[in-house]
Amino acid sequence: MAEKTVLELAALQRPGHSLDRVFYVDKDIFERDIEVIFARQWLFVDHVSRIPTPGDFITFEIGGDSIVIVRGTNGEIFAHHNVCRHRGSIICQKPEGKVRTFTCPYHGWVYDLSGRLVHAKNMGEGFDRSKWGLHSCAVRVTAGLIFIYLGNEKDGPDFAAMEADVLPYLEPHGLTRAKIAHTEVYTTPGNWKLAVENFRECYHCVMAHPEYTAVNAYVKTNDAVPGSFEANVLPAWEEAARDEGFVVGSVALATGLQPYQVRRRPIRDGWQTASKDGQPVAPLMGNLKKFDGAETAVDFMPQFGLHSTSDHTTLIRFTPIDPTHTEMRLTWLVHEDAVEGTDYDVERLKWMWHVTTLQDAELIANNHRGVTSRHYTPGLYSVREEMTAAFIAWYLNRLINE
Ligand code: FES
Ligand SMILES: [Fe+2]
Repeated sequence: MAEKTVLELAALQRPGHSLDRVFYVDKDIFERDIEVIFARQWLFVDHVSRIPTPGDFITFEIGGDSIVIVRGTNGEIFAHHNVCRHRGSIICQKPEGKVRTFTCPYHGWVYDLSGRLVHAKNMGEGFDRSKWGLHSCAVRVTAGLIFIYLGNEKDGPDFAAMEADVLPYLEPHGLTRAKIAHTEVYTTPGNWKLAVENFRECYHCVMAHPEYTAVNAYVKTNDAVPGSFEANVLPAWEEAARDEGFVVGSVALATGLQPYQVRRRPIRDGWQTASKDGQPVAPLMGNLKKFDGAETAVDFMPQFGLHSTSDHTTLIRFTPIDPTHTEMRLTWLVHEDAVEGTDYDVERLKWMWHVTTLQDAELIANNHRGVTSRHYTPGLYSVREEMTAAFIAWYLNRLINE
């Protein structure tokens, strides 16, 4: 890295501009990002239906850390650092599976599902197994979504406060009674901040996302006059939707350890769901009695977002792999009773976010290639990139004030 410290570099960034090249490529800054951002956030991992019964586990890799998330004997969910307490071997080698206990492949230490060390041979008299359990992470489950916290929970964001704001919007969608219809991983050769910057703005949508633009009316409305969708279209729709008993409105917290927001808005006149032709692609979810043609969007900045329409939910998880690679993993949920081939078709279900994310993965990769050029200089965000600018301002603030 340059001679300047991360803190000095952060303080030199110009407000309202994209970052200097070093923030997108440097290994030391990436390490700092993991410590200051990702280890201080509630991180979305997966939907509960991925690990339905005791012993079912998944692993989650982030910035060099590996965590195993497992369903315990009594149905509770644990998250353990996947690092043996003996000499540090990775224990679980597979991304998912089912176990009765975790056995380290190196010298055979055995841990139960709750992380307690239950067997370690030849450790001599006086060895106290109870002191050598796996290091665990805090876990929260809300609306069927599993979140973990890598740091010391008492220093973390107030999960209950976020949950109180977000849950009323999610409850009608019945995510606790959902199943995973499809999962797809899009790994892009770009820094995680470029991926988040991309997903925070729709300045690029008309240009780069013809399919998304064709479905979502707000894109062109706001492209013509920024903010006009919220000013002119939303209020009347909200009034009508509220009268019909649907949740409307929005909540946003832009600062703090973990900014988040939730909002609900109509898709397009005549569109029942976010599909190619506006027609349903799956049975109604949750306790919805009819299609309201709207979408609920939730963001837990910067790592997780979801989009719920009346018949399906798309979960979007961002995971930094290294300074120059980011994984975007999308999971589509439908009603737990829906049957593939009869009630839904994966191609129709995933169409909009799949095609859009493929496009975004390429945009992010191009962006990354450009910012690594010696001739890149930070650029100015437009009025339609205010959420991206806010994300960068928040990011720099976290680096400086941590
Ligand atoms: S490192 Fe796991 S048993 Fe030795
Ligand atoms: Fe995009």
